[in-house]
Amino acid sequence: MKHTHFLAAITAALLSLTMYAKTATTAISVVPYPQSVEIQKGTFKIKGTPVNCDPAMDELSRDAVAKFAVQLSKVTGRTCSFASPVGITKTIASGSSKGFLFYVDPSLAEEEYTVNVTKKAVLVAASSRAGFLHSIQTLKQMLPEAIYGSKAAADIKWTLPCVAIKDKPRFAYRGTHLDCSRHFFSIEEVKKYLDIMAVYKQNRFHWHLTDDQGWRIEIKKYPALTQVGAYRDGTMIAKDWDSNDGIRYGGYYTQDQIREIIAYAYQLGITVIPEIDLPGHMLGVLAAYPQYGCTGGPYKVWSRWGISDDVLCVGKEETMLFLEDVLAEVAELFPSEYIHIGGDECPKVQWKTCETCQAKIRELGLKDDEHGTAEQHLQNYVTQRMQAFLATKGKKIIGWDEVLEGKLGDGATIMAWRGVKHGLKAIDLGFDVIMTPNTYCYIDYYQSKDRDNEPLAIGGNLPWQKVYSFDPCEGVPADKQSHILGPQCNLWTEYIGTDEHLEYMLLPRMIALSEVQWCDLDKKDIDRFETSLKSHQYKILDIMGYNYRKDK
Ligand code: ACM
Ligand code: ZN
Repeated sequence: MKHTHFLAAITAALLSLTMYAKTATTAISVVPYPQSVEIQKGTFKIKGTPVNCDPAMDELSRDAVAKFAVQLSKVTGRTCSFASPVGITKTIASGSSKGFLFYVDPSLAEEEYTVNVTKKAVLVAASSRAGFLHSIQTLKQMLPEAIYGSKAAADIKWTLPCVAIKDKPRFAYRGTHLDCSRHFFSIEEVKKYLDIMAVYKQNRFHWHLTDDQGWRIEIKKYPALTQVGAYRDGTMIAKDWDSNDGIRYGGYYTQDQIREIIAYAYQLGITVIPEIDLPGHMLGVLAAYPQYGCTGGPYKVWSRWGISDDVLCVGKEETMLFLEDVLAEVAELFPSEYIHIGGDECPKVQWKTCETCQAKIRELGLKDDEHGTAEQHLQNYVTQRMQAFLATKGKKIIGWDEVLEGKLGDGATIMAWRGVKHGLKAIDLGFDVIMTPNTYCYIDYYQSKDRDNEPLAIGGNLPWQKVYSFDPCEGVPADKQSHILGPQCNLWTEYIGTDEHLEYMLLPRMIALSEVQWCDLDKKDIDRFETSLKSHQYKILDIMGYNYRKDK
């Protein structure tokens, strides 16, 4: 008996030790979880604590820290004064620092940062604005959720746990996409989308601005694109393909509004990558300028979903010049080094019978061969021509993985959406890849098998747990992994007509993806992540005013 008791006591002791070890290593609830976390004893108390930064920091980084100080003051109800005094690094070296101190450490990599919280001070170092922005997001996640609010919460204990963090992302490209063609979202909602991306350290916003169901970007040289192409006569109802609700629907972003979004994203550390989807998915253009089609129309902005056979007539030189004009304005507007030129789902039926397209095929000497059909090579001619044109504007292209059909010009980046295998093929051919396989990254899919209890969706079943399980480098030889720029989740909006529904589809799946994007494989831990979601992240979403899907 005694012996059994002894064993039970040992087991209990071991169990509590393991549990202690688990709590000790997960005592911060930050997502995406930092690469290195050493929890120490004690806490740092915030009570009208000064926030200082190194004058060597660039102005925008200092602005970001100043904004953090303002927010801290607001929520703690005590003034946390911001200053940028000369000689701050000497204080750090002497070990006599107090309060928050942000400083430049040039030895850290781009995006890397360190946070060292002791009972006396919070030392934060980075070498770039991205690193400082990440450090602020990490600090905010270590604070009570009220830091995300707009009200003073003076009765809360405002403390940070003593901890040493050293952190940097696994992937440089950490994207989320939004389709604003199938449904149009206001500037305010797009900003809200960017806000939550920034919380989870994402840095690329892929903005799908044109499609068969509406052209959403003002192009000065072609006003009918938005006067005509931005509006449809109605929208199909649910999945009844021949129905139409008869309600005129549309909208577009002016170039000023687009500049506003780009600037807003920039201060959050996010680059906006626009997509002009060509040469298919172009009914928005054809409704406005039927002369750029093979059949001459008449065309209408589509009120139904799917893939239209009506595509651009790329045999006509005037169509090419039109595309170049549009891309010239796009390149001028967006500072991003990448412009996405689509290339997906372009049926070739009309090109096969169009005399102009066939004449172009003959002129270019295009033939069916082992790389593809003559018509696929014709699409490839468009891709290469747009790539060369954008290169004259200092831009590189991203294309959906269909652009790999036919021979592709060097330097293009492939967005693999029809499965990882297309990404692997692109890597084999020497191209850079952004991994967005629909099986893990299409967050327009259902979030449960129980469809009756979910809002109508396009299909599939992609719970956050499956998103979390994605490894973009699986099956990629180590020496080729540098070709994977990073993963991205895509949110197509055929069945998503409201802000609430949009957020429900985004969250928490985008949060799960953020750990795929950020964490080294050995730092991912689905149990730790789930605990953080339920105990902390959902509260952040509540305070910030997002709708999201809770596990039922
Ligand atoms: C796509 O989902 N058609 C890229
Ligand atoms: Zn044609």
